[in-house]
Amino acid sequence: MKLIGPFKQVVTLANLPLRGKLSDQQLEIIVDGGILIKNNKIQKIGNFETLKSENQNVEIETIEGEQIVLPAFVDSHTHICFGGNRANDFAMRNAGKTYLEIAESGGGIWSSVQHTRNASEEELLKTLLKRIDFLISLGITTIEVKSGYGLDVENELKMLRMIKKAQDKTQATLVPTCLSAHLKPRDFEGSNEEYLEYILTEILPKVKEENLAKRVDIFIEKSAFQPEESKAFLLKTKDLGFEITVHADQFTPGSSRIAVEVGAKSADHLEATIDEDIAFLAQSETVATALPGASLGLGEKFTPARKLLDAGAIVAIASDWNPGSAPMGNLITQASILATFEKLTTAEVLAGMTFRSAFALGLEDRGRLEPNLKADFVTYKTNNFQNVLYNQGSLNAEHVYINGAKI
Ligand code: NIG
Ligand code: FE
Repeated sequence: MKLIGPFKQVVTLANLPLRGKLSDQQLEIIVDGGILIKNNKIQKIGNFETLKSENQNVEIETIEGEQIVLPAFVDSHTHICFGGNRANDFAMRNAGKTYLEIAESGGGIWSSVQHTRNASEEELLKTLLKRIDFLISLGITTIEVKSGYGLDVENELKMLRMIKKAQDKTQATLVPTCLSAHLKPRDFEGSNEEYLEYILTEILPKVKEENLAKRVDIFIEKSAFQPEESKAFLLKTKDLGFEITVHADQFTPGSSRIAVEVGAKSADHLEATIDEDIAFLAQSETVATALPGASLGLGEKFTPARKLLDAGAIVAIASDWNPGSAPMGNLITQASILATFEKLTTAEVLAGMTFRSAFALGLEDRGRLEPNLKADFVTYKTNNFQNVLYNQGSLNAEHVYINGAKI
């Protein structure tokens, strides 16, 4: 056993509901707190001095100066395994071209596919690990990572194998997702339906055989896959035993409805979701994931997180870090900015980056500081937890703990 503290404030996020709006008065804040760790898990949270006197011979890890502690963050949507760079897309967009126009003229996802196919395994692994380290430095210890820049058997498996290799080299938890249905690759001879069938018969069986991912994602959008073909595909992936997540309503509404109908764990993006579909999502178990990094990268509107929360949805916030629409990668900055535009409480933002995003990944063992949960947390040198969002990402994490150990 080990006792860590004292912390000026321990923000536990205990007892907050999974869905709907939250007020900051609902936050449990333990002043002068400590965290007792046993076997990588949280044993008890409480007043540091009380915990110390209750556990006389316990090892003590003393926290120097004034620090606060939060549950570590969970980034439930990233595309951080990729080759190349799309700075030129960014510059073209800012010069007036749209995301879709750039895609049609040879930039966009397809250009990242070419760079990723051309990258060696070593290069892909090295850059992936570098991005993981950056996320860990922000206090993010659980990271979803999608394929989707390979788009054929060889290269999708290459990506997923590198994600698996990265898991052997990092203490963060990686959650791989197969996004072979990101786009029909230009060199595929056949229709969208035929490409989706190719994923079902050629890619997913191998993904399963090598245990490379348990989740499947699809980009439903005019420029990618159409609603009906996508729904049929998702139902078949479900029969194969995969969990589902969907890139939904990014530019065109309608696909979040499909995500709910097929029982997806999450519907992500939702910038274009209409009010009726907000109500539909809010009554489901499908997590509505806001991706403010994509709004900031594209200069598009934000996901209607306020309306979703008010309607009672489970709202997560993730970075969508990718070379095209969301090149920044700093989830804390993005979530802080989303809060200012959407008027989200601190509790709603923290919940969206912790236990609510963990739920989207099917990981209910983390995201709060509560007994029996995974001892992943992040500390900041400050006396007030509100400074984390107030500083919009410029207050660096002081220490990041995974399984109760400082990394
Ligand atoms: O989540 N919308 C589709 N996929 C990514 C963008 C990928 C890319 O542009 O490379 C997204 O925004
Ligand atoms: Fe994405």
